[in-house]
Amino acid sequence: MGIYAERREQLHRRLRERGEAGRVLFAGHVLQPRNYGANVYRPFRQNSHVAYYFGIYHPGFVGVLEADGRSLLFGPQPTLEDVVWEGPLDALEVWGQRAEVEEAHPIEDLEKWIRDASGGWLHTRPYQADLGMRMARWFGCTTEAVMAGASKILSEEIVSQRLVKSAQEVAEIERALAMTAAGYEEVMRALRPGVTTASLIGRVMRRAYEEGVDVAYPPIITSHGEILHAHGDSEVLRDGRLLLMDMGFEAPSLYASDITRTMPINGRFTPMQRDIYEVVLQAQSAAIAAIRPGIAYSEVHDIACEAVASGLVGVGLMKGDVKEAVAIGAHALFFPHGLGHALGLDVHDMEDLGDQVGYGGEGLRSAQFGRNFLRFARTLEEGYVVTVEPGIYFIPALIGQWKAEGRHADFIAYDRLEAWLAFGGIRIEDDVWVTAQGSKVLGPVIPKQVEDIEAWVGTAA
Ligand code: GLY
Ligand code: MN
Repeated sequence: MGIYAERREQLHRRLRERGEAGRVLFAGHVLQPRNYGANVYRPFRQNSHVAYYFGIYHPGFVGVLEADGRSLLFGPQPTLEDVVWEGPLDALEVWGQRAEVEEAHPIEDLEKWIRDASGGWLHTRPYQADLGMRMARWFGCTTEAVMAGASKILSEEIVSQRLVKSAQEVAEIERALAMTAAGYEEVMRALRPGVTTASLIGRVMRRAYEEGVDVAYPPIITSHGEILHAHGDSEVLRDGRLLLMDMGFEAPSLYASDITRTMPINGRFTPMQRDIYEVVLQAQSAAIAAIRPGIAYSEVHDIACEAVASGLVGVGLMKGDVKEAVAIGAHALFFPHGLGHALGLDVHDMEDLGDQVGYGGEGLRSAQFGRNFLRFARTLEEGYVVTVEPGIYFIPALIGQWKAEGRHADFIAYDRLEAWLAFGGIRIEDDVWVTAQGSKVLGPVIPKQVEDIEAWVGTAA
């Protein structure tokens, strides 16, 4: 049995064990119009569940897992006209063999087939608007009913299956990471005062085109690291500032990578930059060292928060008891996001299924500022892949607001912060595999020690 049939069989078995007798519908993506119907966004990106359970990377397919365990594929049967415009195309039967299904049918038959089928349907919540509308038409209901009808049990079982990565899946992530590492080397060597962020993004995207892949998310390349997801206009990079780069390619199989490095634009960290950098690096090392099966990722997050707070006490920007500071969320002035997330076919793996991924059965998200952005809190199991991405940021608006309120004033040295308002931000991120023994940082080494970064930056001819 091939991997796709095996994955579906496992899902089918688990659903039966839980008393679910319905059919499962996996709706693949269609091409999305850009400014009119025939001008579409490319490259096409398949829905990750369809990629995982059916191995189909082309638009227009729908997979069905029948209540009796058989699988069907509905998809386009190429016409002569399609061949005129697009060149030779595989017949539907070939796609069916690739997806390891028992039957393949033209997509035009799907609606009638769904209407004629008796019994219930299980599906996940569509996140592309047109998919919601198409599903509503197939099921003869409203899009609201499609959204509300997403199956919790199906989500739970998909999550528990997809969270545990096989050696083959980890190899795909490492394939993406090999390209990402090469991209980092190119950008770091090309970095110097006067270059623009647009030119660096251009290098990344040119590499993606040359490799025939896509980025796993829009790259963040900015001297304003304090803006967590900065996608602003191009800027000319200035001497003395830091560049934060958060970038990862997808493998051809769509497995993601997600890496962040922060580096001095002129190739030398200032003492202030170095002090903060070492605190973030220490927080990341402490978190990675704590990763093993059986520990909750929320606990690993706390370990990183305490390392951040303790390091900032050392720098003189925080004060008081570190554990108390973290418990009430004072550190979040500097580290206002979660430590990381699951990584796989999606950069935030399966985030379309909501907090089932990060919290399923293990409590709810905290309402506390900072911790509310912790996307993944679950107890780790062997085979999970997570990102570890602590950061320290100086966000003038946030500092101004907290200072005016006197918020957590027992723990924050507000009087010293004035000198740091234009600092920017630092984040360091790696992708980590939970192994039986502990953990493994995936992919080739991308410099993150101060000396190693300084040895690379600005060295291109
Ligand atoms: N790489 C962007 C993020 O993890 O949010
Ligand atoms: Mn990330």
